[in-house]
Amino acid sequence: MSKNILITGGTGLLGKILTKELQSQGHQVSILSRNPKKVKGAKAFYWDVDKQEIDETCLNGIDTIVHLAGEGIADKKWTEKRKQEIIDSRVDSIQLLYHLIAKQETSVKSIVSASAVGFYGDREDELLTEESPKGTGFLSDSCKFWEDAVEKGSELGLRIVKLRIGLLLTPKGGVLEPFKLMVKTFSAMKFGDGKQWFPWVHADDLVGMFSWAVNHPEIEGVFNATAPSPVTNTEFTKTLSKVMKRPFWPIQIPVFALKIALGERKELLLMSNRTDSQKIQKAGYQFKYTNLKKALEDVISKG
Ligand SMILES: NC(=O)c1ccc[n+]([C@@H]2O[C@H](COP(=O)([O-])OP(=O)(O)OC[C@H]3O[C@@H](n4cnc5c(N)ncnc54)[C@H](OP(=O)(O)O)[C@@H]3O)[C@@H](O)[C@H]2O)c1
Repeated sequence: MSKNILITGGTGLLGKILTKELQSQGHQVSILSRNPKKVKGAKAFYWDVDKQEIDETCLNGIDTIVHLAGEGIADKKWTEKRKQEIIDSRVDSIQLLYHLIAKQETSVKSIVSASAVGFYGDREDELLTEESPKGTGFLSDSCKFWEDAVEKGSELGLRIVKLRIGLLLTPKGGVLEPFKLMVKTFSAMKFGDGKQWFPWVHADDLVGMFSWAVNHPEIEGVFNATAPSPVTNTEFTKTLSKVMKRPFWPIQIPVFALKIALGERKELLLMSNRTDSQKIQKAGYQFKYTNLKKALEDVISKG
C-alpha cells in the first residue's frame, strides 16, 4: 500500500538513495530540511532544530517518519561544543516532531529511525546482538541519548523501529572514500593492530532494511543493520586492495599517530564492533550482499 513518508535529513547520503527507492515503490516522499530549496524531486519542508522552528504543515497526511537527521560524526574535531551539536541535532529534532504530533491530530503511525553500531562502543571480539548492553565512550553515549529520544514516541502510541547502522558502502561518498584514496595513493593501511571488527553494510541492503521497516507495520524494536559477515580492519583493506587491483602491503598506523591526527575521533577507526544480524534476518529481511568482496566489487564498479 502506498504510504506518505516524511524523511528528516533526506538530503544526506542515505536519505537521497532511500528517497529514490521509496518513490520507485510508489510511496509519496517529503523531506524536512534546514534548506528546502536544495531538495530536488520531492516535496520539501523547512525546519531549524536549533531555533525550534518547523513548518507545521509538514505532517499533513504523513503516516511514516524516517529520522535520519544529524550533524556529521566525522566532519569536525570533537570539542565539547561539537559533541553537544551531534547529540542535539538527533535528539532535539525528534523531540520537535513529537511535540508537533502531540499538538496536532496527525495520521503519523510509525517512526523508523537511524541509530549506529557505535551504541556498543569498543567491544573487541564479543558478538554483539541487540540484547548486548551499551558500551562506553562518546559514540555509545550519543547513540543511547538518540535511541531514548526516539523511543519516547511509543508514549504517543507510535510504532518505533531503530536501525543500528554500520559502515555504509556506497559507490560515491561516505566512509569508503578515504579507504579508496589510501589504497590508490599509498598502499593499504591498517589502523592500530588491525584486529578491530568493521561492521560493513552495502547501500542496497541499508536502503532495503529501511524500506522493509517502512513497509511492514508488524516490525518494531531495535535491529543491527549490518551485513551478516563483519570483517576485521585488516581483512577489509586486504579485500579492498584486491578489488581495486592494488598491492596489499599494509602499513600500520599506530594508535598514537591516530590520536595526534584525529584526537578522540580515533574511536571511529579503532572501535571494534562484531555485530550479529540474525535478529533482522529472523524477522524476515533477506540480505542481498553477505560477502564483502562482492559488495565492494559492486560499489567500486559504480563509483
Ligand atoms: N553513513 C554511515 O556510514 C552511517 C553509519 C552509522 C549511522 N549513520 C547515521 O544515519 C543517518 C544518515 O546518515 P547519512 O550518511 O545520510 O548522513 P548525512 O549525509 O550527514 O546527512 C544527514 C542529514 O542531516 C541533516 N542535518 C545535519 N545537521 C543537522 C542539524 N543540526 N539539524 C537538522 N538536520 C541536520 C542534513 O540535512 P539538511 O542539510 O537538509 O538539513 C543532512 O543532509 C545519520 O544520522 C548518521 O549518523 C550513518
